Amino acid sequence: MSEPRDAPYPELKKSHTMAHVGRPWTDYKPPPAAPVWAAIEGLGRYYILVAAIELDVFDTLGRIGPSTIEAISAELDVPVDHLRSLLDGVVAQGLLDQFVDIYQLNDTAKRYLLSDGPASMADLVAVAPGPHANWTRLADTVRNGVPATPIEDDPAAFYVPLVEGTFTTMFRCASRADLKIRYSALDAPRVLDLGAGGAPWAIAILNGCPEGTAVINDLPGVIDVARAKTAEHGVDDRCEFRPGDFHTLDIEPDSYDIVVLGHVCRTEGSDGAQSLIRKAFAALKPEGRLLLADYFPDMERKFNPHAVIMGTTMMASTKLGFTFTHKQFSEWLMEAGFAHIRMIEPIGFQQTFVAVKPRTS
Ligand SMILES: C[S@@+](CC[C@H](N)C(=O)[O-])C[C@H]1O[C@@H](n2cnc3c(N)ncnc32)[C@H](O)[C@@H]1O
Repeated sequence: MSEPRDAPYPELKKSHTMAHVGRPWTDYKPPPAAPVWAAIEGLGRYYILVAAIELDVFDTLGRIGPSTIEAISAELDVPVDHLRSLLDGVVAQGLLDQFVDIYQLNDTAKRYLLSDGPASMADLVAVAPGPHANWTRLADTVRNGVPATPIEDDPAAFYVPLVEGTFTTMFRCASRADLKIRYSALDAPRVLDLGAGGAPWAIAILNGCPEGTAVINDLPGVIDVARAKTAEHGVDDRCEFRPGDFHTLDIEPDSYDIVVLGHVCRTEGSDGAQSLIRKAFAALKPEGRLLLADYFPDMERKFNPHAVIMGTTMMASTKLGFTFTHKQFSEWLMEAGFAHIRMIEPIGFQQTFVAVKPRTS
């Protein structure tokens, strides 16, 4: 009788299948706890940055240059040990440099965290996740299917600081988009910017088209941000401001060369987003273009965490807010009648659908 032979891979023998003992490999090579720690630390990482901006750390370092903790704490009038602890947390995130105990701005901080940096996000950090208290009640929001204090209860209170904070980023995106879609080649385009916020898209297009004009829409109370930004950029005299709810706004049919839906669909739910796309289609002249910017998860909703978590952010603080995939938007655009649908990404993480209303519709 032959001796029983050892199985070459004992951890894979039949009694160790998933059905019997769960995942046999985990005994030999447990998965790292890093993703759990990353989630726990996420809260601390965020509030370290919020506090550093609130305390004016970045602008102060920009003004006084590389400095010891004692010099910075004297400048900010806060205790040395607490400030060192905070700044070390900022350094650990790669948002400041520290070398031989001298703290200094690195390139990321100069570009994104100085209040007058070329792509400043300083005003965006505190407002981007929505009302912070809604995150502490997220489980209740999931149970109830609605947040306790949705931003729709007081939209101006939320959107005014948000659109002021996002303007720099969206304006860079809208200006750079010209390299891809050449709106500046249009003679005197008529632009409709729905839910315009500070009107970064309308301003960029009017900058590129000296004969262009724009109709700018947003909610009463928020539209004043657009009035101020268009005046700042010297294009307000070519803008008509049309306050009101974009779902019920009077819009002339077949009248616009460009309609912009810039980051407005993800608060409107599936029906609302599709209705806005149909409105845009009706408003466009034949051969006019829709520009639809948003954060789009991939088809399986797991390979683009930025867009996926933006969807969760919408769920946490709005009544109907969810992000929709590239595929969903492509289908909705086609159903509305759009053709030549393509996707551009003028700056990182800022994807924009470009879709044309065909001449024969
Ligand atoms: C995320 S911001 C986007 C702003 C701008 N379009 C951009 O791309 O930066 C959404 C904007 O939609 C506006 N908005 C939300 N609901 C609206 C509605 N029912 N009618 C008109 N504007 C609305 C908000 O006030 C806010 O300015």
